[in-house]
Amino acid sequence: MSQRVVAVYPGSFDPLTNGHLDLIERGSKIFGELIVAVLHNRDKDPLFSVDERVEMLREATHHMPNVSVDRFDGLLVDYAVRKQARVILRGVRAISDYEYEMQMALMNRKLDANLETVFMMPAVAYTFISSRLVREVAQLGGDVRGLVPPLVEARLRAKVES
Ligand code: PNS
Repeated sequence: MSQRVVAVYPGSFDPLTNGHLDLIERGSKIFGELIVAVLHNRDKDPLFSVDERVEMLREATHHMPNVSVDRFDGLLVDYAVRKQARVILRGVRAISDYEYEMQMALMNRKLDANLETVFMMPAVAYTFISSRLVREVAQLGGDVRGLVPPLVEARLRAKVES
């Protein structure tokens, strides 16, 4: 099939890490169009607002012409259908991610059998990085250089100092 495949890469991205960026770069080389979709999750107490997260993602991905950044609410499968996406892209860092990811992939398949979840692995150097740990380390004054893009590092520093 020579159709241009649209993929959605959903997540919280609070904040964007180098692991996410690595996955976006890998995905952009495989899919015709990659939409990075930030979940507007009212239940969580985020460090960065959705607007701030979208802004950072846009800045960090502007060199990839087939990557766009958006926000979504509600069911991921409904959003993917609205965007005419056939693929949901997710990253798997370690076996510990597998159970949660498998549950989500199978639930999403139950909700919409036409959508396929594709898993990719980030570079091994990023396998220990998570947004949760980055937030914790930054909030406690630790060094997050090399874990997040420099623009995120600067925003984290500003947030912690404010
Ligand atoms: O980065 P995260 O927090 O692991 O991403 C989780 C995300 C956004 C992919 C997931 O929570 C999601 O898709 N939420 C939207 C609501 C939904 O569709 N729930 C059913 C999915 S099984």
